[in-house]
Amino acid sequence: MDPAVLPILACPRCRAEAPFKNLRMPRCASCGLEPVSHNANVIDLIDVSVGEPTVASTEQRLMESELVARIYDRFWRPAFVRMLAGKGAGAAVGGLSGELFIHKHGLSLDDRPGPWLDLSCGPGAFARALAAAAPGALVVGLDISRAMLDVAAQRTGGYTNVVLVRADAHALPFVDGAFGGVNNAGALHAYDDPEVVFREVRRVLRPGGLYVGSTFAEAPSLFGRLAARAAGIRRFDPGELRAWLGRIGFADYEDVRLGGALVFRVRRP
Ligand SMILES: C[S@@+](CC[C@H](N)C(=O)[O-])C[C@H]1O[C@@H](n2cnc3c(N)ncnc32)[C@H](O)[C@@H]1O
Repeated sequence: MDPAVLPILACPRCRAEAPFKNLRMPRCASCGLEPVSHNANVIDLIDVSVGEPTVASTEQRLMESELVARIYDRFWRPAFVRMLAGKGAGAAVGGLSGELFIHKHGLSLDDRPGPWLDLSCGPGAFARALAAAAPGALVVGLDISRAMLDVAAQRTGGYTNVVLVRADAHALPFVDGAFGGVNNAGALHAYDDPEVVFREVRRVLRPGGLYVGSTFAEAPSLFGRLAARAAGIRRFDPGELRAWLGRIGFADYEDVRLGGALVFRVRRP
């Protein structure tokens, strides 16, 4: 694991900055917390004093399944996106390449030094793409699902600049201003409280840092709207999202619509 991550970590329990001396046997120098990971290639920074997060939604229970994590990129994501956001989005977004292109372009990878956070990285497709596009920069893939992180660890094994962290997007274990950009593909609909996540993203971005996310807007078909309602999927009205992110202190909102999906970008002033 790339030790470049050490200075940007914050202890999930006492919030001390750069709490660990090494990643082999991490121990917080301030409160003594010793994170225990289920996988040697993942740092587990869930705050165990608060307890394991409860998994309330059906979708998140599926995200914890090994089978879903393994078939996610090839089958699950394309089918899900096509169903909820229509055929147009399915081609560009579910097929990943179109969406990856938009995200990489949106983050301005070539012009910025990073580090980059792939927030809710799932099995790591975006983290891999960022790591390949910015080989000199640290890429942190973060997710709450052990199954997703296990697959991400296998698939990012060839990239020495990727570090995987298990944590909750509502309580990011990083120091303020740690990242040059945050990538957040297809996960906003899954969060209990997006407002808290937006505030955390703003906090961990340095001034001028970019936040690029994708989510579901309005389904183009009646079937898509009914399926979203049945699955309990939250949708984001682009006008409301723009105003929401503005209230939190982001600037320069832009978005690209792909059928019923949208990719947005904002900047921390
Ligand atoms: C639909 S998947 C998207 C994965 C990947 N970003 C992509 O676009 O292919 C949503 C991911 O969000 C993660 N997630 C859900 N709630 C989370 C939370 N509170 N903190 C961190 N990750 C979370 C899930 O475990 C899952 O991997």
